[in-house]
Formats: sequence, structure tokens, C-alpha cells
Amino acid sequence: MVTACLKCLSAVRFNAAKAMAAKSKVESGAILREPVALVVHGPNLNLLGTREPEIYGRTTLEDINQRLIELGRELGIKVETFQSNSEGEIVDRLQAARDWIDVLIINPAAYTHTSIAIRDALSALGAPSIEVHLSNVYRREPFRHHSTIADVVSGRIMGFGSESYVLALRAAANLITPAGAAA
Ligand code: DQA
Repeated sequence: MVTACLKCLSAVRFNAAKAMAAKSKVESGAILREPVALVVHGPNLNLLGTREPEIYGRTTLEDINQRLIELGRELGIKVETFQSNSEGEIVDRLQAARDWIDVLIINPAAYTHTSIAIRDALSALGAPSIEVHLSNVYRREPFRHHSTIADVVSGRIMGFGSESYVLALRAAANLITPAGAAA
């Protein structure tokens, strides 16, 4: 009985603390809902784990997404993920995210080097974006050295394998806090 009562008491205290935190958020004019990060993966990234592992590593896309969702929980960011092999579907997903997400992390894969449509969709997004690559594209074939989105994203992270995404989410968290945005 005593244990149960103590539990009740701590639950009441916990809820009161949550209510006070929410109240102070309202008073400070901060965003009320949890910030949302959309992570978009381009063509062939569904094959991660078995696709050219000497370049892209053995981590699967599912592992990457899971890691990002968990890190998002730690950072207080809701992480949504999307993969498509089709340029049009990626553009559709970016349009649907317009004025709704707080930050975008995108690895357009091969479309990085060719797609003006994805570049235009990023320009119309209304949220900061981060370009990610598993490999360091500058250590590879010359056609991979050009990115159509390099000058419309906030920053680029590449060459750290699946860890590139983790670094990008940490950078994104920094970008969408008031202090990070001001920097
Ligand atoms: C990639 C690099 C691209 O050149 C390539 O077409 C990919 C993956 C990377 O993450 O290293 O598919 O974006």
C-alpha cells in the first residue's frame, strides 16, 4: 500500500513538472510541438548492407533508420524516414513536407549528380536541409564530384559511412534550436 501511494505521489509530481515545463514553453513563445526531421534516401539505398559493401559498408537502411529514430528520441526530434528509387516520388515527398517539417536530411544518391527537380523542390521546401553521403564522393569518379543541391543546402556531410547520417541529425538538432539557427 505504502509503495503504491509513493508511486501515485511521484506520478503527480512528474505530471506537475511536465505541466510547468509546457507552461514555460508557452510563455517563452517556443515551438509547442516536437520538431520533425524528415530523412530522405534516394535510389539503390534500399540495398545497403549488400550493395558494394566495400564502399557503403554492411549497415542496412533499416538499421540506419532505427538508429536515427532512437537518436531523435534522445534529442527531442521526431524522425520520419522515406526511401524511393524514383525521382518523381522524392519530389512528391518533398512537396508534401513543405512548410511542415523543421529540417530535412537527404541523401539523393545518384540523383545528387543529375537532378534539377530535387534541387528545385529543396529550394521550395521552406526548411533547412543537410546533404548526406555515405562515401566521400570526391575520392571517387569525377561525375560524382558535382552536386546539383550543394548550394541550396545548409551543409554537407560525407565519407563517414552510416555515421554520416548520425552526424547530420546532430547537426540538424543544432540548426533547429534558436541558438543553432542564430549561429
Ligand atoms: C552516395 C554517393 C552517390 O554518388 C551514389 O550514386 C550513391 C550513394 C553515397 O551515399 O555515398 O548511390 O550518395
